[in-house]
Amino acid sequence: MRKQSYLVKLDMSRCLIVYYSLGGTTERIANKISEGLETKGYEVDTYNIKDGSVPPIDNYDLLGIGAPAYFFASPFIITDYLKSLQKLNIPYFSFVVYGVIIGDAGNQIRKKLNKRGGKDVGYYKCNGEGNFFGYIKRGVQTYPSHPEDEDLEEAKNFGESIKSNIDDEGYKPEDFDEKPGLIYRIERFTTQKWFVQKFYYRFFKVNKSKCTKCGICVDSCPTKNISMETNEFPKFGNNCISCFNCELKCPEEAIKSCMDWKIFSPFMAYNVRKIPKIPSIEMVKVKLNKGKIERIE
Ligand SMILES: Cc1cc2nc3c(=O)[nH]c(=O)nc-3n(C[C@H](O)[C@H](O)[C@H](O)COP(=O)(O)O)c2cc1C
Repeated sequence: MRKQSYLVKLDMSRCLIVYYSLGGTTERIANKISEGLETKGYEVDTYNIKDGSVPPIDNYDLLGIGAPAYFFASPFIITDYLKSLQKLNIPYFSFVVYGVIIGDAGNQIRKKLNKRGGKDVGYYKCNGEGNFFGYIKRGVQTYPSHPEDEDLEEAKNFGESIKSNIDDEGYKPEDFDEKPGLIYRIERFTTQKWFVQKFYYRFFKVNKSKCTKCGICVDSCPTKNISMETNEFPKFGNNCISCFNCELKCPEEAIKSCMDWKIFSPFMAYNVRKIPKIPSIEMVKVKLNKGKIERIE
């Protein structure tokens, strides 16, 4: 979703929030933070980076970056955007939504922006409904219906607090998140951009006897990486960000990807076995039915 205010009031500070959200959870947090900032007199423009290009940051006084955790890291679509930024002469804040283990998702964003000279004036994180195909297909969904009202209220309060953090010269940024454990670091290594965009993307397979050419995979891809000519089967380009939404949403289960390879199974099985043993993690059992996630308890 893109929200832009065309009313420019010269006496107002302007904030640009750039986020990536596929399932809508990060978007809900972005909108609440924006509300909080507005109560403190900011004029805020919010952009979901998957929906198109983002304006240059030159006309803004504050930058916000938001992302879900993807494989214990920040999604490529966000890290690529951060790489495209030159020197950052304005303060920034960041926020991350995550389904189980945040890993280095927030750390990566903050380190990249610090490196560009940005002043860190706030970091917010909360759980969001898990939409990772690898777990859903194994019958587990974490934090269903999150963020909850409490998280949204906190996000709004966070937005309100940013102005005073900027004004406070002694403001100390939040600590970085704990580094992910070894097994998660291995998982992250195997899902890094180079492997995905040079290698794994070639292995999306469409079962031609199941595919009805409905185009749901084309519409569900956040980077418009799937094309389908009239009466053709879907074709996959190399701008894949490994969200596996095409495979998740396919009503005929006609798409198979590297997520179905045996080498990834031990990681997925390890995580899915571990989740129910940690009482603090909210989870429900689910099944995939024609591309829809259904709760079974
Ligand atoms: C491909 C993929 C990888 C994910 N990896 C992680 C992860 O490493 N750690 C985690 O806690 N959640 C992970 N998640 C869960 C998302 O962070 C969570 O579902 C988030 O709420 C999605 O945000 P969105 O609704 O704004 O797209 C992953 C989800 C997807 C789709």
